[in-house]
Amino acid sequence: MKRKEIYRCNVCGKVIEVLNPGAPETICCGEPMKLMEEQTAEWKGEKHVPKITIDGNKVTVDVGISMGTPHPMTEEHWIMWIELICKNDCYKRKFLNPGDDPKATFVVADTTGLSAREYCNIHYLWAGSE
Ligand SMILES: [Fe+2]
Repeated sequence: MKRKEIYRCNVCGKVIEVLNPGAPETICCGEPMKLMEEQTAEWKGEKHVPKITIDGNKVTVDVGISMGTPHPMTEEHWIMWIELICKNDCYKRKFLNPGDDPKATFVVADTTGLSAREYCNIHYLWAGSE
């Protein structure tokens, strides 16, 4: 178990993030929670990959908008959160709700070495970098 890993309960759907690794297994609903692997691909070929756009100190992360096919944001299927990972282990996260645009804008002091993650309620965890 490592810091920042995301685990999901296959029974109740609860999602947790590790802030301080501890016991090797986390149990929910009587079963070990499942590690959500970071799925990656080329953002132009897979709408789930978070795309990073930098404008000065403003960094926008979108899911599908840059491809012209925004990821759905319905009650059944939506992006639950978007996270920007900056230099020096600084994490910024925006939680989204159905009806929102599948994007988040953050202001950062240093725009080098950025990466991003997003979590879809159906297709789970995706990661991408500049
Ligand atoms: Fe999805």
